[in-house]
Amino acid sequence: MTNPAFRLNGTTVDLTASDPTESLLRWLNRRASHGTKEGCADGDCGACTIALIESGAGGQRRFRAVNSCLLPVGSVSGRDIVTVEHLADADDLHPVQQAMVECSGSQCGYCTPGFVMSLFAGFSNGELDDHTTEGNLCRCTGYAPIRRATDQLRSCKSGSDRFSSMLTAPALDIAEVIGGRYFQPLTLAAAIDLKRRHSHAHWIAGATDLGVELSRGRRRDETFIALDRIDELKHIKIDSDGVTIGAGVALSAVESELGTTIPALGEMLRWFAARQVKNRATFGGNLGTASPIGDLLPILLALDGEIHLHGSRGARVVAAQDFFIDYRKTARSDDELIVAVRLPLSPHRSATYKVAKRQSDDISIVAAVFAMSLDEDRRVQHVRLAYGGVAAIPKRASATEGWLLGRTLDAPTIEQAARLLAGEFTPMSDHRASADYRRALVVNLFARFVAEHFA
Ligand SMILES: Cc1cc2nc3c(=O)[nH]c(=O)nc-3n(C[C@H](O)[C@H](O)[C@H](O)COP(=O)(O)OP(=O)(O)OC[C@H]3O[C@@H](n4cnc5c(N)ncnc54)[C@H](O)[C@@H]3O)c2cc1C
Ligand code: FES
Ligand code: FES
Repeated sequence: MTNPAFRLNGTTVDLTASDPTESLLRWLNRRASHGTKEGCADGDCGACTIALIESGAGGQRRFRAVNSCLLPVGSVSGRDIVTVEHLADADDLHPVQQAMVECSGSQCGYCTPGFVMSLFAGFSNGELDDHTTEGNLCRCTGYAPIRRATDQLRSCKSGSDRFSSMLTAPALDIAEVIGGRYFQPLTLAAAIDLKRRHSHAHWIAGATDLGVELSRGRRRDETFIALDRIDELKHIKIDSDGVTIGAGVALSAVESELGTTIPALGEMLRWFAARQVKNRATFGGNLGTASPIGDLLPILLALDGEIHLHGSRGARVVAAQDFFIDYRKTARSDDELIVAVRLPLSPHRSATYKVAKRQSDDISIVAAVFAMSLDEDRRVQHVRLAYGGVAAIPKRASATEGWLLGRTLDAPTIEQAARLLAGEFTPMSDHRASADYRRALVVNLFARFVAEHFA
């Protein structure tokens, strides 16, 4: 049996005695590796950003910026991690550090290691853009100098260096289990078999949701079956009718590969969390949390998507419409895992709207995804109005949809549809927004969709 180990800045470190549910950030800090900072320990600030090597869809290895506060130690076994301490070569700063110095991108310096690591991953992959550091918050420098550093780096070519050789080094073996309770199956069949033998164990994928719990010291004693090493869950297939997205594909890859093929999905992922979270978060985890404010189910609802499940009794497909049963309850039974979602290529006009307190990197107050088409006489031929954040589960406005079908989309129809929509949900008030505000959004987002696409 392989001992759990990972490569930290090129050196192999044994993890046999490590707690698999401790965050990598705390693990690093306990070992006096203090370059990686803790700001929020919740995935929100980016101070703890490190780079890990992941294999892309074509098998090519690349650096990905991720939040180490959300990364359980179990999930780093077999991987290569680079932290900020390793960037400079003796007295020679790495180009991203040099650019931050030259552009005065740092004052107190607390956020700087996180910015530097996000820039490092973007620079290494040739993917530096305005979103590279959107998951990094800075309280004192202001973002303009950091943007200047990013722009300066864009004009430098990342040549072959000691980091590119890390990308071609053979990967370490992955241990089957860490600490007796963090299992890492490599196949779907092995994952299902493990769940049969450890029925109390929980699935864990990117850990961007569970990682928050673990980072807060909750659920640390539980047993987990990690899904992030299973290649069968990491494929995106496009055919003539639609796309099938493996439940374990990182959402950043979904965004880059399908953002234009399925615009409603691309628009949602644009505003879904920050790069570091999307580099780990998955579709399976988003539906697995069964959150009423999860942003991805409204897309499946509006585009008539399906959820593919697999468990000890075999495989089955559930229509998105039938997936959520009640608050945090879904049609998935405990032994099943989500293996993929399927979205038909929609001929209808669709759009996504997400309203949150902050424009980017924030949880939705209300998310709405609409799909509609009209015939040549402006009669509604097809309509789906899906919302998140307005009920105990993500839901379609079925009564309004039924009323709209076959009617001419003129001003009186739009007004009556708005009246119906205002009464269709009974949203809650919470710390994010009042019920009245949410109800107003239900109506106004539909009005905006009509104005933008059917004026
Ligand atoms: C800073 C931050 C910002 C965020 N922003 C957003 C946002 O804008 N919109 C949004 O919707 N969410 C957001 N989230 C929540 C989270 O990132 C997403 O829900 C994400 O998709 C979860 O995926 P994961 O792979 O990390 O799930 P994990 O944390 O690994 O798992 C989450 C749950 O799903 C279960 N699970 C995982 N995979 C499967 C599977 N294949 N089958 C069955 N069950 C499974 C797990 O058992 C667990 O209960 C944010 C989180 C953070 C920390
Ligand atoms: S410490 Fe804030 S994102 Fe990790
Ligand atoms: S330099 Fe102080 S928080 Fe960014």
